Amino acid sequence: MSGPALRKVESHSSIHEAALTEASELTELLENLLSQNDNDKAYQVACILLEHWESRTLQHAESEEEGLYQEIKKEFPEHYDAITALVRDHDMLREIAAYIKDQLAEQVINQDIAHQFRALIIIDELHNIKELTVLPEH
Ligand SMILES: [Fe+2]
Ligand SMILES: [Fe+2]
Repeated sequence: MSGPALRKVESHSSIHEAALTEASELTELLENLLSQNDNDKAYQVACILLEHWESRTLQHAESEEEGLYQEIKKEFPEHYDAITALVRDHDMLREIAAYIKDQLAEQVINQDIAHQFRALIIIDELHNIKELTVLPEH
């Protein structure tokens, strides 16, 4: 979903909710597997979870920066600083995802990886609240 759907609070918000619900469920599963010392399965879930973040939220972020954010900056110059801050949030998500990717490439799986996935959820939740306040259609 993109274009006009991203401009509306309701449809945009439901995209966020769907992605975060799936991320939360997979993160909980990862934490449970780690606490049971099932590292093989934990590693597999971590790879699926990273793929989830890359294909859903980071992809979503990229399309926002290419389309929606450009439109908002043009139509509502007063939101310019807010958009800059939102892009910085996206960059933090990308940096954390890149760190996890490097660790998984080295076959590393531990509590730190789970903490990094928790950080993605927390940053994304805060980001989404802010983002909805600058959408053109409420
Ligand atoms: Fe965003
Ligand atoms: Fe968004």
